[in-house]
Amino acid sequence: MPFLALRHPVCVVVGVMVMMRGVRYNHERLHVGGAFMQHAQRTRSEDQGHQGKASKQRLHNRNVGRASTAGKRNVRTRERSRLARMRRPPLKVFPSTLWEYPSQHYDMKDADGFTVTVQGDKDYVGATPSWVIWQLLQRYTREGDVVLDPMCGSGTTIDVCTHLKRQAVGFDLSPTRDEIQQADARALPQPDASVDFAFVDPPYSTHVNYSSDPRCIGKLDASGDDGGEAYYQAMERVLHEMHRTLKNRRYAAVYVSDSWRKRKGEKGGGGGVFMPIGFELFARMRELFTMIDVVCVVRHNAKLERGDFARAALEGNFFMRGFNYLMIGKKVDDDRR
Ligand SMILES: C[S@@+](CC[C@H](N)C(=O)[O-])C[C@H]1O[C@@H](n2cnc3c(N)ncnc32)[C@H](O)[C@@H]1O
Repeated sequence: MPFLALRHPVCVVVGVMVMMRGVRYNHERLHVGGAFMQHAQRTRSEDQGHQGKASKQRLHNRNVGRASTAGKRNVRTRERSRLARMRRPPLKVFPSTLWEYPSQHYDMKDADGFTVTVQGDKDYVGATPSWVIWQLLQRYTREGDVVLDPMCGSGTTIDVCTHLKRQAVGFDLSPTRDEIQQADARALPQPDASVDFAFVDPPYSTHVNYSSDPRCIGKLDASGDDGGEAYYQAMERVLHEMHRTLKNRRYAAVYVSDSWRKRKGEKGGGGGVFMPIGFELFARMRELFTMIDVVCVVRHNAKLERGDFARAALEGNFFMRGFNYLMIGKKVDDDRR
């Protein structure tokens, strides 16, 4: 019977598609080694866990002789979301100033042909979406170029550079891995005019506790009693370092979000303070660089998708952050602006 069915042309096409999908997922190999190993192992064991549970469920249903509809639905839902996770669209260079991608990370092949599904650390709070850095490197760098990240965090920039064959130079006050050198981004141990591209994703005021280091810029309140002056002055010094270390006629990008915080003791009615960090940093960046453009990057994070946060925003009449600014400038140290 299956043979007869496959003689029908439509069945042949469907059969080949099913086989190809099987081949694709069977050949999906996960990277072993380096920073990605833990995630790869986790992904694999989660998958095995799901498969294990799914087959146990099927066995149970067969044994009791009555399939549990709810059980089947759960298995199907889990399987669908697992496949959806695996089917991230391939990255293409975006043509407009509105950027959106359905995942924090992208799938890439490493030098040995293994599929790597994470850049940086997916559990690092405040990590940059790796595809944003991918977009920038595609547009503003070439193979072999030196790329600076003075606030490297979990090392997302380093991993994207490795993938695209750029040389990363990463600093952070609180290094998370060996390739990151410890330094204050306001005084980098990096020679003048030595990098081809500079990228930074700084703290946006005090919303994440990155480390206990008192020099952490994430301890400076952009809505403090000083009107945020300490925060903006610190960021100005970081921008100066990016400019100093950048070669002439090369590009720098700053990825940042505005911030909003409820005033202590106030409930509802918009009783909060808005920190226009994007506009403030743009103004400071313009003092140093020739500004090229501003991109709006749509934020996808778990917080935004949680109903209780959305409800609080509506009840309190404030907005959740829906986008980040990506501000791109060029160092032009000659008369040709
Ligand atoms: C938003 S996170 C960077 C995320 C990173 N791009 C990633 O994908 O993981 C900001 C980083 O700035 C670092 N930082 C804060 N103040 C700093 C300073 N003065 N010098 C260097 N790094 C600093 C923090 O330790 C934190 O890792």
